[in-house]
Amino acid sequence: MQRNHNHTTIVTVEKVINETPTVRTLVFSDEVMSQALPGQFAMVWIPGINELPMSIMISEESGKTAFTVRKHGSASTGLFNIEEGQQIGVRGPYGNSFDVKEGNLLLVGGGTGLVPMMRLLTFVKPTDNVTVLIGAKSKDEVFFEDLANSLLKNNSHKIIVSTDDGSYGEKGYVTDLVEKLVSENPYDGVYVCGPEIMMHKTVLAANSKNIFVQASLERMMKCGVGICGSCCIGEDLVCKDGTIFDGNHLSQNKEFGIFHRNKAGILENY
Ligand SMILES: Cc1cc2nc3c(=O)[nH]c(=O)nc-3n(C[C@H](O)[C@H](O)[C@H](O)COP(=O)(O)OP(=O)(O)OC[C@H]3O[C@@H](n4cnc5c(N)ncnc54)[C@H](O)[C@@H]3O)c2cc1C
Ligand code: FES
Repeated sequence: MQRNHNHTTIVTVEKVINETPTVRTLVFSDEVMSQALPGQFAMVWIPGINELPMSIMISEESGKTAFTVRKHGSASTGLFNIEEGQQIGVRGPYGNSFDVKEGNLLLVGGGTGLVPMMRLLTFVKPTDNVTVLIGAKSKDEVFFEDLANSLLKNNSHKIIVSTDDGSYGEKGYVTDLVEKLVSENPYDGVYVCGPEIMMHKTVLAANSKNIFVQASLERMMKCGVGICGSCCIGEDLVCKDGTIFDGNHLSQNKEFGIFHRNKAGILENY
């Protein structure tokens, strides 16, 4: 029987990988989630705590998939603390997916914004020339550099890490590098996921050069399926109309990069 993706499926976490002191990847078996398109997300039920939206991560084993979570508040810490053998609930996959261009590609990920970028890397063609920019606060918080290198072993590629404090890779904000790279290279596609200020600057830089760009947005999500409105940004519902939006569309959105809504739905400045 075909699975209803709006029903929660209970899965058992089979492996926990420590990526950094605050980031872990939880691997589990799920055929449906393992075939998610790049950029899709799931609603993840953490028993006794809450449900959170999470980007669907890849796994190196077929039929398996994962979530990569950063420990922050109550629900993300609950998920971070899940141990091998414990269960979580998943529904989805939800949302649209990246429009995968061919040629010269730039992927920009900040923190757990790298998760959809890793799945996107599994969709690039061997002929594509791919640059991945990894942004992190410090050396301790850099992850997926080796994974990106291994996923791109058959491509002409470059992985550039930048840390805010300069403790590893280039020093400074990843967006400074984006602006430089975008002004020097004729990219066929730019993809970004991470803090909204970072996405906003990346979109502005690519738009100014008429380069195709897509950003994967994050908002408060309660239903994940377009009913509750908690994820709205201007006229758009991030869960249903996105999470991925083109740069041209975002340039018309008066909230992108400026406001988000808190848990009560009230607009707050970034
Ligand atoms: C599409 C999408 C993909 C995401 N992918 C990832 C990922 O791969 N890895 C990752 O670490 N984080 C991801 N996030 C962010 C994640 O969903 C949480 O927002 C973040 O972990 C903060 O949760 P918290 O428990 O630390 O909440 P706090 O900021 O401390 O908030 C307290 C409580 O508010 C609720 N809450 C917080 N954020 C949300 C939310 N976005 N929607 C609904 N309720 C919320 C929870 O009950 C939470 O415990 C994603 C968000 C979106 C929208
Ligand atoms: S999360 Fe409910 S409408 Fe988007």
